[in-house]
Amino acid sequence: MILEINNLSKKYGDKKALNKFSCKFTEGIYGLLGPNGAGKSTFMNILVDAIDRSSGEILYNGKETISMGKDYRNLIGYMPQQQGVYDSFTVAEFLDYIAGLKGLKKTEAKKRIEEVLKFVNLYDVKNKKLKSFSGGMKQRALIAQAILNDPKILILDEPTAGLDPKERIRIRNLISQIGFNKIVIIATHVVSDIEFIAKEVLILDNGILRKKDTPENLLKGIEDVVYEAEINEQDVNSIMNKYTVTSLSKEYAKIRVRFLCDGIPDVDNAKKASPTLEDLYLHIFGDR
Ligand SMILES: Nc1ncnc2c1ncn2[C@@H]1O[C@H](COP(=O)(O)OP(=O)(O)O)[C@@H](O)[C@H]1O
Ligand SMILES: [Mg+2]
Repeated sequence: MILEINNLSKKYGDKKALNKFSCKFTEGIYGLLGPNGAGKSTFMNILVDAIDRSSGEILYNGKETISMGKDYRNLIGYMPQQQGVYDSFTVAEFLDYIAGLKGLKKTEAKKRIEEVLKFVNLYDVKNKKLKSFSGGMKQRALIAQAILNDPKILILDEPTAGLDPKERIRIRNLISQIGFNKIVIIATHVVSDIEFIAKEVLILDNGILRKKDTPENLLKGIEDVVYEAEINEQDVNSIMNKYTVTSLSKEYAKIRVRFLCDGIPDVDNAKKASPTLEDLYLHIFGDR
């Protein structure tokens, strides 16, 4: 299975929300990283055929997806960024409704709904209304609807938005279990959502694909950039003014600072540290 994107662009008036985006996806989990406004949702909306592209190609196993029509849409599961439309439904009713929209047969739908409810761990609350759910439970209900038709291509737009760290970990674990024999694309501005589970990371900046590679290779690119040092509290500000600081932690009387520097740092006893994706993200986007 291969999904090939060639020179995909989307304009809103003069604004290029997506600018000649090209890449190939095969089975596995991909993390689409970028700050707000980078074009992540625009890309996903085009991929799931919710909005039209301005130009470019999307080929599924060599076939233009526009000409595939419904055959293409049937391959797709989509978790949109917005939620809260179906609050008066129970989660079972919600999934039943979505199964209808997706054209699943009644008996097949019933079995599949039970399966996905168990998978996202909402089976015990299947008759509770969505409006009574926590943010994490709602996100899991949205994941459940996205995988209902056992899609070949699963598109998740900010699946952990608004969740606390524990719920985020739970969602991440769920996604990592879905990953086999599908193309899974996760858009997020939260690096930890995709760190360790993505086979490749795509970095989108202002509609332009800046990088696409395995996490390992991406980190090799900033091998000589990340430093750590122990400093005194009064030096924190001057370091923050000079460098991008990626973390600060207090250790007894000292402060441990982690920062990015492309040359030789002007900080006493600074030692090179092994980079993380968070460092990479901040190296590209700084404080944006
Ligand atoms: N319907 C729209 N009309 C006009 N501009 C839009 C529309 N949707 C998105 N944009 C603009 O396109 C850019 C990319 O937005 P979006 O794809 O939502 O980014 P992201 O999901 O990465 O935050 C932004 O500058 C946004 O304001
Ligand atoms: Mg978005």
